[in-house]
Amino acid sequence: MPHPYVLLSAAVSLDGYLDDTGPERLLLSGPADFDRVDEVRASVDAILVGAGTLRADNPRLLVNSPERRAARLAEGRTEYPLKVTVSGSGELDPAARFWHTGGEKVLYTTDEGAERARVLGIAADVVPLGAELDWRRLLEHLHAARGVRRLMVEGGGLIHTQLITQGLADELQLAVAPLFVGDPEAPRLFGPGAYQGGRLRLTGTRQVGDVVLMRYEPTAPGTGPLPSAADHHWLALACELAALCPPSATAFSVGAVVVAADGTELARGHSREGGDPVVHAEEAALAKADPTDPRLATATVYSSLEPCARRASRPASCVRLILDAGVRRVVTAWREPDTFVEGADGSGVLESGGATVVVLPEHEDRAKAPNGHLLGR
Ligand SMILES: NC(=O)c1ccc[n+]([C@@H]2O[C@H](COP(=O)([O-])OP(=O)(O)OC[C@H]3O[C@@H](n4cnc5c(N)ncnc54)[C@H](OP(=O)(O)O)[C@@H]3O)[C@@H](O)[C@H]2O)c1
Repeated sequence: MPHPYVLLSAAVSLDGYLDDTGPERLLLSGPADFDRVDEVRASVDAILVGAGTLRADNPRLLVNSPERRAARLAEGRTEYPLKVTVSGSGELDPAARFWHTGGEKVLYTTDEGAERARVLGIAADVVPLGAELDWRRLLEHLHAARGVRRLMVEGGGLIHTQLITQGLADELQLAVAPLFVGDPEAPRLFGPGAYQGGRLRLTGTRQVGDVVLMRYEPTAPGTGPLPSAADHHWLALACELAALCPPSATAFSVGAVVVAADGTELARGHSREGGDPVVHAEEAALAKADPTDPRLATATVYSSLEPCARRASRPASCVRLILDAGVRRVVTAWREPDTFVEGADGSGVLESGGATVVVLPEHEDRAKAPNGHLLGR
């Protein structure tokens, strides 16, 4: 089930705090950065904050610029993004500004929390998600029932920590403010948790007034059948690599990337790479990886097209090469059509060999794009 694109947004002090412990909200951003945040808000379908932030800050979470609101309306969107909050307890102030400003509101909660919210008279669409709150179900519901494609998450720390450790954040936009908090009782951006092992990808930096904005993408593949946000990024890269293939009338253009469990790229390749007229993408990528690298056992292969199970041009299929390399997780965008091989079913053969195959059809059109001439397009 598809999720919205999840953008985490936060401002922190130089020592990594989200706030101080005083009764007023600590202003970390300056005017230019608040305006940047307003611009991001205007670009999304929904804004989410946790109940802790509602209780601590009593925020409105509006798009403040009339021009940006007018532009949203002109594009046929709602004047304000949907406002979303999350509370297990349902213990919320019904008079909080969140409920009485802006457009529509949704409260995701537990069965028990929904009961409490109803008693309190919370002015929102109250969605109970069972005995416990499950982030994947919440994101699926926002996508399917509310049409949310881009979700901005504005904290607090508990929410950010869960979304990043569960591999559900597509992007982190972090503004670092030139001040210290120095109080260990103050809330931190990220709390303890099982974070990805390796490095995130830095995708941009910018000075905004006196704060520095940094943008990061998580890189760690999902585990087993559960896709992570980073799976989508890597598969998108495989689709970009497919576009580099010299076109052929007798073979597909495919891109592949091999990624370790901690998010480190081990190798990449594409069909017909380096002047070899028959090399396949997975084959080209795996040939660059060290076959004794222990990280292959927990790595993921991303391939824009399902790996081949049978081929005439080489003794070993890509499925065989993947299994022999020890890789046990494959993410692909597109099941192989019968164009060249009938009933290819590389995914089925991989699964029989003990690998998990995850198909993300959201990327199928991109995977097909460089193959239009073979598909009668
Ligand atoms: N600098 C910034 O950019 C920024 C942005 C936002 C917030 N903040 C600061 O962050 C602080 C608040 O952060 P916080 O970590 O205390 O709170 P939070 O992350 O805003 O919200 C935590 C609350 O959300 C609900 N929740 C979260 N995950 C849940 C789950 N899996 N199941 C059920 N309920 C769940 C719970 O509500 P219930 O308790 O109702 O069950 C939980 O207490 C404030 O000081 C605020 O000023 C700073």
